[in-house]
Amino acid sequence: MSQLKKTGFAVVALTLVLGLVGCSSDTEELKLTAQQETEISERLAPEGEVVLEKDVASAPAAMASSGPRSGEDIYNKSCTACHSSGAGGAPKTGVAADWESRVAQGIDTLYANAINGVRGMPAKGLCMDCSDDEIKSVVDYILEQN
Ligand code: HEC
Repeated sequence: MSQLKKTGFAVVALTLVLGLVGCSSDTEELKLTAQQETEISERLAPEGEVVLEKDVASAPAAMASSGPRSGEDIYNKSCTACHSSGAGGAPKTGVAADWESRVAQGIDTLYANAINGVRGMPAKGLCMDCSDDEIKSVVDYILEQN
């Protein structure tokens, strides 16, 4: 019995030692290469300091992709499902007759109803990350199609 206990202890001790050896070799692997360190410090650097004057020519292209979305972009993503088909009684884009009585309410009412929702029209057409101004530009876009 005590022999068994000793063996048991030896196994546990051996496992611990092996475990520690395993750990220390893991830390070795976690050391970053010079390449990784450069990449990380570039990522952490404030954006303004990384942009060099010679790179400014390419800046507009970079800004275009992250800039504000156009009314058309948002329409195609968030509104077309209902407003192209007329689903649920939605006025159809490009069908002026569908919009006449709505436009007659005045543009500010149309904007407000698009932003806050009205009857079957969900608030912001469910584009919850759209700003009020973006929704207004989508309404303008829709009315331009008539
Ligand atoms: C889930 C379907 C659905 C989506 C998505 C949707 N709409 Fe609508 N929308 C409707 C329906 C239905 C109506 C008609 C509501 C009524 O008058 O009963 C409507 C009405 C409107 C009106 C007229 C409101 C008025 O005062 O008569 C505007 C403007 C409008 N939607 C804009 C948008 C815009 C902009 C988007 C995208 C950001 C959008 N909608 C997305 C269903 C939708």
